[in-house]
Amino acid sequence: MNSQFTVRFWTSISLFKRYSSSNVIRHGLVGMVGRTPMVRLNKISDETGCDILAKAEMCNGGGSVKDRAAYFLIREALNNGQLKPGGTVVEGTAGNTGIGLAHMCLSMGFKCVIYMPNNQSQEKIDLLKTLGADVRPVPVVPWDDPNNYNHQAKRFADSIENAVWTNQFDNRANRQAHIETTGPEIWEETNGKVDAVTFSTGTGGTLAGVGIFLKEKNPKIQVVLADPQGSVLYNYFKHGKFERTPGDSITEGIGQGRLTENLKGAPVDDAWPIMEPDLLNMTFRLLDEEGFFVGASTGLNVFSAYQLAKQMGPGHTVVTCLCDTGQRYYAKLFCREVLEKRGLLDSLSEKYHKYLH
Ligand SMILES: Cc1ncc(COP(=O)(O)O)c(C=O)c1O
Repeated sequence: MNSQFTVRFWTSISLFKRYSSSNVIRHGLVGMVGRTPMVRLNKISDETGCDILAKAEMCNGGGSVKDRAAYFLIREALNNGQLKPGGTVVEGTAGNTGIGLAHMCLSMGFKCVIYMPNNQSQEKIDLLKTLGADVRPVPVVPWDDPNNYNHQAKRFADSIENAVWTNQFDNRANRQAHIETTGPEIWEETNGKVDAVTFSTGTGGTLAGVGIFLKEKNPKIQVVLADPQGSVLYNYFKHGKFERTPGDSITEGIGQGRLTENLKGAPVDDAWPIMEPDLLNMTFRLLDEEGFFVGASTGLNVFSAYQLAKQMGPGHTVVTCLCDTGQRYYAKLFCREVLEKRGLLDSLSEKYHKYLH
């Protein structure tokens, strides 16, 4: 065993355990998982008479909400002996989880292999490569095909020594991250004065983990699932049917075609679909009014929180999260031509067109 690695690794583990006791000095990248700022979104809060708060998840070390899951997936593989120093972390992911894992692997001394569908943007592939990951784009096939990128990731991990397929969708270490970190942070930072939370779901880890923790504290806290067009979760939680809502979405990393293990048993009080024009205008409103440059899943989360605040009435506190920054979607979400091709340009308020390139 490489002693330099061992020191680096155990330092990051023990510091992570202690991270909650120090808000001042973060030790390394792992120390930058969690304890993100809780931000009041002033304009929409004032408009609704509520406090609309958001955890600024882009402030995690790897730049997104998925860093929490990435760290906990690795931590569980270490705890159960699947992964040992110098080993390989393998995941099937097209986005933020891969970026989070690649950052964690560099900081903890593991190798990282990412399988992804071969229709993903070159920017993501380039970023993952820059972060030292071995990126393997494979043909796009559905989940039930053995050559789906997730199954290929599992097979590869099974085929080599000292490797783990972290399996973000169905490994509950993912939601555990939010039971142990995001949920308690929201509870503490609002002094228990939270009436509702709302999140979009990819794996479902954030919504389920936060919901499970907060319901234990106060069962009256409302948990609302916000779903993009083309996902089955709205219909599942509202009507018990796995039926996709019409259309598709410019959002990335969210929306789902099945009930993942992370989402099973999640305490969901209500679910609603969020339409593309609403999430798009909220994404640009956050930039224009508040100066937050965020991705479309954040626009969806915040639109949902805004809608929930209006429904609940003045005096309530609604919490969501800012998932990542707009930088990751610069070429698509902020591009006039792309929005035009997707038929979205006309639904974006004229006053926001100045932000397009
Ligand atoms: C940009 C973005 N927002 C939101 C989510 C949803 O998080 P979760 O997987 O915890 O449901 C993801 C997940 O990948 C994401 O990439």
